[in-house]
Amino acid sequence: MLLSRRDFLRTTAATAVLGPTLAVTLSSCAATEDVPAVQFGAPLPVPPLADSKLEGGVRVFSLVPQAGKHEFVPGKPADSMGYNGSYLGPTLRAARGERVRIDVRNQLTDATTLHFHGMRLPAADDGGPHQMIDAGGTSSPSWTISQPAATLWYHPHPHGSTEKQLSMGLTGLFILDEPAGAGEGSAVLPHGYGVDDFPVIVQDRRLDSNGQLTFDPNGNSTGTLGNSIAANGVLGAALKVTTERVRLRLLNASGARWFNFGFGDGRTFHVVASDGGLLAAPVPVTRVQLSPAERAEIVVELRAGEQAMLRSFAPNLGSVNPPDSFGGGKDFDVLRLDAAASLTPSSALPATLAAIPSLDVANAHIRSFTLNGQNINNHAVDMNRVNEVVKKGATEVWLVDNTNVYQHNFHVHGVQFQLLDVNDAPPPAHLRGWKDTIPVLPRERSRIAIIMPDYADTQHPYMYHCHLLAHEDQGMMGQYLATEDGTGPSKLGMDGMQM
Ligand code: C2O
Ligand code: CU
Ligand code: CU
Repeated sequence: MLLSRRDFLRTTAATAVLGPTLAVTLSSCAATEDVPAVQFGAPLPVPPLADSKLEGGVRVFSLVPQAGKHEFVPGKPADSMGYNGSYLGPTLRAARGERVRIDVRNQLTDATTLHFHGMRLPAADDGGPHQMIDAGGTSSPSWTISQPAATLWYHPHPHGSTEKQLSMGLTGLFILDEPAGAGEGSAVLPHGYGVDDFPVIVQDRRLDSNGQLTFDPNGNSTGTLGNSIAANGVLGAALKVTTERVRLRLLNASGARWFNFGFGDGRTFHVVASDGGLLAAPVPVTRVQLSPAERAEIVVELRAGEQAMLRSFAPNLGSVNPPDSFGGGKDFDVLRLDAAASLTPSSALPATLAAIPSLDVANAHIRSFTLNGQNINNHAVDMNRVNEVVKKGATEVWLVDNTNVYQHNFHVHGVQFQLLDVNDAPPPAHLRGWKDTIPVLPRERSRIAIIMPDYADTQHPYMYHCHLLAHEDQGMMGQYLATEDGTGPSKLGMDGMQM
C-alpha cells in the first residue's frame, strides 16, 4: 500500500520481525563477505512519492539531505542519512515535457551534491562533483524532462566521499512518465505505485555487531562488500502481493556488490525496462544481473496464496577469478513475495513496449576508454582537466575496454546510450534498450552508441566513471564538455571549479 512518509519511517523502524538470529550471525561474520541467512517477513516499506507544487508551470520538489538514525537491526539504531527523512529519499516523479526544479537544502554537516543519474539535462544542473552544496547551503537545479519514461535515481556525488554519503542512505528514485494519454506500453503494464508497481532499492550493508554501517573501501579491490542485504532499507523484507502481476523497479544501489536476480523456484519472469526506459518488447528470463547503479524493471506473475523468493544468485564476474572473490560465488535471499489468497486480475503483458530507434553510427566519432587499475586511459581524474570535448547532440561511439582481472562498470552522465556489442557479439535482448551504465567484466570490450547532450556549455563538464563507488572515489573518472562545435578548452577556467 502507498505509505505516507511518517508510515514509511514507522514501518522502517518496526523491523522487529527479524528476531534474534540476525544479531547473533552478524557478530561472527561482520568482517567477511558472507551474507548470513536472515529471517524474512518484515514488511517492505515503499518510499513515499515526493510532494511537489506547481509554480508558473514548473513542478517544484524539495529535498533536504540530513543525518538521522535507522534500525537495520531492531533495537540498534545506526547512524544514517536520508533525504527528507532518516534513510533513503522520497520517489520523485515527473512526465516528459514537464519543467522541474529541485530545491535542495543541505542540512548535513558536510558538503554534498545532488546528482540526477540517467537524466538528460544541462551539465550545470547535473549535480556532479563540480556542483558542491556547502553544509547549510542550497541549490535549485531546473530543466525540462526530454526523455522516455524510465526509472532513474538521484544520489550525492562529492568527489572522494560518494561511497560514504550514498551508502549512509542518500539515495532515491526519480521515475519518469510519458505525458498523460501518450500510452506506449506502460499504460498496460502494472503502474499503480505501491499497489502493483514497487520500487525495490537493493543494497548490501556492512553492519558491525552494534548494527552500525561500516565501510571498507580498501579491503577488497572493488570496494566495500556488505554482510547483509537491504531492500528499501529493510533486511529480510516481504511484500504482500494482491495482483496477478507485479512490477518491480530494481535498483542496485550497492557500492561494489553485483546482484544476479532470479527466483528461488527458477520461475521465468519478464524484463520490461533497462536503465533508460522500456525495452522494445518484454524479455522472458530466469536471471537478470545488475552491477552497481544499473536498473531493471521486471514483471513477475504469481498464483494466489504462493510465496516466491527473489534471490541473488552467484553473479557472473568473468571467468578469470576464483568464484568467491570480489563478491562472487554467493547466493542469498533479497525479498519474499507473499501472494494473497485471492489476486486481482492484471492485464496480459503487451507484445510490444516501446520503439527503440537504431542509431546511425556510420560516421560517428569514435573514442576509446581503457580501464586499467583504478584509472581511465592511464589517468586518475584531474578536476581541472577536460578529457574529452564532444559536439552537442552528435552521435558518437565509445569503446570501453577492461584490461583488469576484476570487474568494473562504466557510467556516462547526461545521456542514455545503446550497447552495440560486447567482445564483438550482440548484447543479450534485455540490454538492447536505453542504458546509462554497463558492466565491463575482466578482459571485456564493449562498444556503446551515445547521442550526446543537447546542451552546449564550455565551463561545466559531465562526468564518466566506474560506478563501483570506491573506484569512483579513488578517481576512476573523467570529464567531457559538450559544446556547439565540438571544440573547447582542455582546462576548466576558475569559474568552472567550485571545489
Ligand atoms: Cu550514479 Cu556519476 O553517478
Ligand atoms: Cu550519473
Ligand atoms: Cu571500477
